[in-house]
Amino acid sequence: MMDVKQQLEQVKQEATKAVAGVTTLVELADVKAKYLGRKGTLNGLMRLMKDIPDAEKPAFGKAVNDVKQFVSGKVEETRHAIEQAIIDAKLAKERIDVTLPGKQFTVGTRHIMTQIVEEIEDLLIGMGYQVMEGPEVETDENNFEKLNLPKDHPARDMQDTFYITEDTLLRTHTSPVQVRTMLANGGNKPIKIICPGKVYRRDDDDATHSHQFMQIEGLVVDETTSMADLKGTLLAIANQVFGEGRDIRLRPSFFPFTEPSVEVDVSCHNCNGSGCNICKGTGWIEILGAGMVHNNVLEASGYDSTKYRGFAFGIGVERLAMLKYGINDIRDFYTNDMRFNRQFRKR
Ligand code: DAH
Repeated sequence: MMDVKQQLEQVKQEATKAVAGVTTLVELADVKAKYLGRKGTLNGLMRLMKDIPDAEKPAFGKAVNDVKQFVSGKVEETRHAIEQAIIDAKLAKERIDVTLPGKQFTVGTRHIMTQIVEEIEDLLIGMGYQVMEGPEVETDENNFEKLNLPKDHPARDMQDTFYITEDTLLRTHTSPVQVRTMLANGGNKPIKIICPGKVYRRDDDDATHSHQFMQIEGLVVDETTSMADLKGTLLAIANQVFGEGRDIRLRPSFFPFTEPSVEVDVSCHNCNGSGCNICKGTGWIEILGAGMVHNNVLEASGYDSTKYRGFAFGIGVERLAMLKYGINDIRDFYTNDMRFNRQFRKR
């Protein structure tokens, strides 16, 4: 009997030590199984019962159960401690320092090109124009042929073209949208459109040349429109872009798709016409090309030139912005330096 008691005491100490040495829940489960499991050490001791005199059996049984309870208490204590340690570690790791400064998100700016295009769109929509778009990959026919620029026409040299195939190209101007719109209208409906968009020329980029830039095309076709309407429209655009009080003048020029053709100057917004470095001392700055739609252009797209007439204009958007804001490098529009872009933030 003494032996058995000693054995029990030894098991108790061993188990207590084993539980104390555990650091993870997995290890704890192993130790628990080893001492308290169905086939564990303590149940093994119960099997010694048969060798114990009957009178001592109850006391022995109780002693084993006491040890079981003791060990199981230790196991629970340790489980609690380990679980608490896991939670503490997690809390420490995921702690948020609410006093740290927040991350700065920088807000972009609407690009100055977008702003100018939308300003002109707003004005012209108010005058009854529709805003159209056309593809940047065009046919030679729409970009040149139907605009009175046949293949051997010398004026094609003015526009260095990115050809994709013999008859496909990157549009060199927004004028092909005139052709597309006239064709879509079947030769018998009046037209009043503007078309803003990107155009491409085979230029080497420098301060005043860019292989990609923006234009806004305008086209009005009906039975009565005249050069006076054109002039009034252009004056409204000049006042919108450069501020109230501007004047414009038309100088004779040449474009294959208009006849007569004009180059349009606006009175200098900087010196009000007295002469400065922006207008190179002349008081005037050239802002766009325009004219009355050439009969060949009307006819090529299905409009009877004895019945219909039209005017058209083409605005270089970068040029307007450069003149208005005194920007002297066209590349500034496309390198997206936020310090440049932010200068045009409205609010
Ligand atoms: N397409 C011309 C260019 O890119 C600009 C232009 C001039 C357009 C006169 C027009 C116009 O509609 O009437 O150089």
